[in-house]
Formats: sequence, structure tokens, C-alpha cells
Amino acid sequence: MATYLVTGGAGFIGSHVVEELISRGEQVRVVDSLVTGRRENLEHVADVDLIVGDLAEPAVADRATTDVDYVVHLAAIPSVPRSVAEPIATNHANVTGTLSLFVAAQCHAVKRVVFASSSSVYGDAATLPKQEDMPPAPLSPYALQKLIGEQYGKLFFELYGLETVAVRYFNVFGPRQDPSSPYSGVISRFAQCLLEHRPPTIHGDGTQTRDFTYVRNVVDGTLRACLAPRAAGQVINVSCGSRISLNTLYRMMSDQSGSDLDPVYTDPRVGDVRDSQADITRARELLDYEPTVFLEEGIQRTLAWYRTQRAPA
Ligand code: UD1
Repeated sequence: MATYLVTGGAGFIGSHVVEELISRGEQVRVVDSLVTGRRENLEHVADVDLIVGDLAEPAVADRATTDVDYVVHLAAIPSVPRSVAEPIATNHANVTGTLSLFVAAQCHAVKRVVFASSSSVYGDAATLPKQEDMPPAPLSPYALQKLIGEQYGKLFFELYGLETVAVRYFNVFGPRQDPSSPYSGVISRFAQCLLEHRPPTIHGDGTQTRDFTYVRNVVDGTLRACLAPRAAGQVINVSCGSRISLNTLYRMMSDQSGSDLDPVYTDPRVGDVRDSQADITRARELLDYEPTVFLEEGIQRTLAWYRTQRAPA
């Protein structure tokens, strides 16, 4: 049995990582500021040691990384538009928190830190699919903050020998993604609107594309990155490797919901990238990773979960 620290473990992706680790019989500690995470996300899992605090505080990072084998670093304020509106607050969480974590992990001789980065670091690079060696071109503070986190990780590996891996996630969705904020991921927003019989908003003309990835795939890729011998020091895309436009996505979701509501189109969002699709060759080679839950099934599972949230108590 190994001890894992999951930063941001009370969040959407974090709670799925925790659930999987517990089901594998691992020891799990969570550190979460509960700014975007929620205690309820962990209610169904027993035996989790939860530290509530801000990782950017060295004392919190120090306590969280004591006697830990592996760290899955998901704690972040994960929103492009929120970073545009709040560059300093998001830098604190996404950059200072990450640096503080790396320092503490180094100090406690953690075996490896897997850092959740983002497809947003690619920006509007014209070539698709996006491959890890393409030059980054951040279009938002969020994208830049994630890139800085990756580069700190690489530096800590090369300078101090702390094993780090950056996994670049592409538009993750699934149960427990919070739909309630204007900054929430688009699938959670669409799901909420459909269940409430309200027309959703599409920013732009809806022809922009994304490589939507069901959370189960991301959990698998991330936990493989903790252990894969050749992954240290690497940046690795984790996604499904396909793309779909928002218009097609919405049609798929409205069909599955039996809805005929039309979306409302508004101006494109500042800082948005146009198209996004990952090349997942490196994940296949280094992590022996293969996505197992594809879009249609992922949407079915996700809509089913949102329905249960709306059922009367
Ligand atoms: C970006 C990153 C992703 C990161 C995520 C965190 C890219 C390609 N992806 O996702 O890696 O994890 O930020 O938030 O940069 N939209 C609507 N209506 C809505 C909400 C969103 O039309 O109600 C549109 C957005 O304008 C965008 C698309 O849907 O074009 C996806 O938006 P969102 O789900 O917020 O994620 P990204 O910003 O693509």
C-alpha cells in the first residue's frame, strides 16, 4: 500500500481520483481549500484524511506532503474566463500553490508528483492534433499559469531530482462537475439547462471544437503517470484524441435528453481557443494508456448523474 496525496481532492476530478485510489486499497490524504471543492464530493468515500487549507501556505504544503509516496496535484482554479477576470487570485492558486507544493514535496522526498496541466497551453496553434513538442502559445492567464506549473515541474526534476510529470487534460467532464458557476465547464452547463428546460448559451457560432474527455479516462491516465517508469520529467496529453463541435455536442445532449430546445448564441468568449484535439501517441507509449469511455457513453453517464441530483429527497 502506498500513500497518495491528492491536492484538490474534494473537487470534481480529484474526488474521482480519490475514489479510485481507495478502491485499489491505497492510503489517501486530501488537501483542499474548498474554494471550488466541496466536502460532499468525498462523502461516499471512507478513510480519507482531509486537510482544509491553502497550499500556497508553506505550512499547509509541508503538513500535506509529510510521509507521502505520490502526489496527484489537481488543486487549481480551473477556468479560462475566471483567470481573465481575476489574474492575481488565479495566479496565487495555480502558480504559487504549485511552487509551494513542489518545494514541500522535494523537502519530504516524495517519489513523484503528477501535475494536472491543460490543453489550453497550446493556444491557437494551427496544427491539429496537438502534440506535446509543439511550442506553447497561452491565450489566457490560466493557460500561462498552467505552463508555468509545467516548467516549474521540469525545473524541479532537473535541478533537484524531484520526479514530476505534467499531464495535459483536454476538457474533462463527468459526474460531480459543478454546473452552478458561469465559469463551469460547458457540458455541465448544457446538462443543467436541459434538465431545467432552459435554453443553453453557446459562445460564438458553435463550430469551435474540443476533445471532450470523460473523467474515468483522466483518472486512469493520471494514476498511470504516477508509476510509469519512463514518465518522469515528461509532458503528456491525456484525452480521447478526437474532437467535436459545440453544435454537435449540444445536439447529442439534447437528443439524449429528449429535448428540442434551441441554444441561444452570444459573442465568442475572450481567451477561448478555436479548436482543440490531442495527439495521444505519447500517453500510449509512455503510460500504456488507452481511453475506454468515449463521448456518447460519457454523456449518458453524466446526464444520468445530473438527473439523480435533481430527484426529490
Ligand atoms: C479550457 C481548457 C481545458 C481546461 C479548461 C478549464 C482549452 C482547449 N481547454 O477549456 O483544458 O481544463 O479550460 O476550464 O483551452 N461555452 C459555451 N457555453 C457555455 C460554456 C462554455 O458555449 O455555457 C463554450 C466556451 O466558450 C468554449 C467551450 O464552450 O468555446 C468550452 O468551454 P469550457 O467548458 O469553459 O472549457 P475550455 O475553456 O475550452
